[in-house]
Amino acid sequence: MEDKDFKKKLAGEKAAEFVKDGMVVGLGSGSTMYWTIKKIGEQVSEGIAIQGIPSSVQTANWAKEFGIPLTDFSKVKQVDLAIDGADEIDQNFDLIKGGGGSLVREKIIDSAAGQLIIAADDSKLVKALGAFPLPVEVVPFGYEIIKEKIARLGSEPVLRSQNGKAFVTDNGNYILDCLFSEITDPKKLHNLLKSMVGVVETGLFINMTDMVIIGKSTGTEILH
Ligand code: 5RP
Repeated sequence: MEDKDFKKKLAGEKAAEFVKDGMVVGLGSGSTMYWTIKKIGEQVSEGIAIQGIPSSVQTANWAKEFGIPLTDFSKVKQVDLAIDGADEIDQNFDLIKGGGGSLVREKIIDSAAGQLIIAADDSKLVKALGAFPLPVEVVPFGYEIIKEKIARLGSEPVLRSQNGKAFVTDNGNYILDCLFSEITDPKKLHNLLKSMVGVVETGLFINMTDMVIIGKSTGTEILH
């Protein structure tokens, strides 16, 4: 296993330790979350009773594979704990997410959670957000206009593609990956983007994170 994957595994598994009997748990998406979901599956097989709310089709598939009972917002209105990954984490614990394309469902779940734990390898810690292109989920109709508008904010948005076609999210939308180099005011940028008709959500997760678990070569570090 590569060093980076090992760190993801350490952080992901550590996060699962915060899951307790009876909880409704928001399950994030991405390769770090694979390890969290696998570990929670082991806890379920040992007897803890939890219900998971998955943030993507991939996460739901992993949860089913590892025997985690799933629920949804038609049955529960509150999430006790959400565990999620991130693409960048700044010193205020503000995040860029959406590298895997699941940002809308992740944000709905993470916002509904009493506590949000972010698990990531140490490469995700940054001084300022922005080196990672900001994913912005947009409605396919007229996305070309939104692309132009975002470009005027000082970015060069790129329509995310997969196998030569536009990448389509679990919600049937497109993603524009927007490189801003350095995002000095994440809240202002988020508000500007959200005010554009056709923007569904941005990958800026501001003022939501309660705890960060970082996987390093030497073990895990918990940041509050
Ligand atoms: C998916 C996400 C992921 O949490 C983020 O991309 C991190 O993924 P990984 O754990 O594979 O590095 O936001 O939309």
